[in-house]
Amino acid sequence: MLADKHILLIIGGGIAAFKALDLIRRLRERGAKVTPVLTKAGSEFVTPLSVSALAGEKLYQDLFDLTSEAEMGHIELSRAADLIVVAPATADLLAKMTAGLANDLASTLLLATDKRVLVAPSMNVRMWDHAATQRNLAQLADDCILFVGPGEGDMACGEYGPGRLAEPLEIIAAIDAALADGPLKGKHVLITSGPTHEPIDPVRYIANRSSGAQGTAIARALAALGADVTFVTGPADVPPPMGVRVIKVHTAAEMLNAVQDAPAADAAIFAAAVADWYVANAGESKIKKDVNGFPTLEFAENSDILATVSKMTSGRPKLVIGFAAETDNVIANATAKRKRKGCDWILANDVSPSTGIMGGSQNDVTLIMENGSEDWPRMSKDAVAVKLAAKLVEALA
Ligand code: CTP
Repeated sequence: MLADKHILLIIGGGIAAFKALDLIRRLRERGAKVTPVLTKAGSEFVTPLSVSALAGEKLYQDLFDLTSEAEMGHIELSRAADLIVVAPATADLLAKMTAGLANDLASTLLLATDKRVLVAPSMNVRMWDHAATQRNLAQLADDCILFVGPGEGDMACGEYGPGRLAEPLEIIAAIDAALADGPLKGKHVLITSGPTHEPIDPVRYIANRSSGAQGTAIARALAALGADVTFVTGPADVPPPMGVRVIKVHTAAEMLNAVQDAPAADAAIFAAAVADWYVANAGESKIKKDVNGFPTLEFAENSDILATVSKMTSGRPKLVIGFAAETDNVIANATAKRKRKGCDWILANDVSPSTGIMGGSQNDVTLIMENGSEDWPRMSKDAVAVKLAAKLVEALA
């Protein structure tokens, strides 16, 4: 199963680091190549020599090790493997991952990678139970980080409870699962995201408050399940996700073209906040202040991208999903919108300023389908994405 698979193994500092040696041995027995990375704290528990000897590969320890930068830069190192495994992952490493810190080699690799990351935590039970660690774990799960363990039992520190590093064979089972093709392998999903900008003249435009956070989270969650994702994005605040095909556009018209040019999709998700109108008399050069009065902008309606795709007579994606951003009569408006646009599902949300949803990190959605609806409790946009991805797996099975 692991033959020819390449694992980048980050060994954190903890009494359980010795188990990483056994893990390396067992991974190699199964045919995997293991590139080891040892944190400074990790090297207090296992020696660099034993790690590199068992792995049969060069050991990487320091971000500023110029020799290894010459051989392989940290960006390349973070992406050359099929999977990154962190074992043991200390509370400190988890906190760094959550915060997106990059102040040593291990945290930099974890921030720079475009590969899936499997984490095997190990720490004292009180550290595990601490609200900060639990908060970090929830965020990392939303970020699509995979976990194995920890187990429960007597700990080296004399306490009892959760926090023991998973056994090497458990970690190997999790590695097998992570490297197995995801449930959306072979499925192509098209996603629109972010706002569109409609020019008034070469320097001014009309826009909206969409940050692109929800569409980006959906793309990330689907890619993590093995989907081939085409991500058509307007000028968003958040960077596009890794590992997906990104097509950047500005206007609604460009977005429509990009969607129509994309390869046939199994599912299409329209999370973009597309401007309803464009300025028909946009200036070709900057409109100057005029002593005789204000310029008059003439509006024309943009094509409805979601409705266009929903009503395709050939090559329509099996599942077409829209969003309904409403401020009043949310469910009634969204239900009517689903029918009018012809999509299969619509995710309705209340974007009144008081909800903080537009541009915020949380979302509160109702999934409206032909035969009923589901109210999802308020949760992070990442969690909405993971839940939607799971629904897609069922629907496309
Ligand atoms: N949408 C689209 N193309 C447009 C307008 C909207 O693809 N020109 C999609 C959005 O991506 C979203 C859905 O249609 O999935 C609903 O967007 P929304 O702004 O809520 O609806 P509108 O059609 O703009 O209706 P209204 O502004 O009247 O509420």
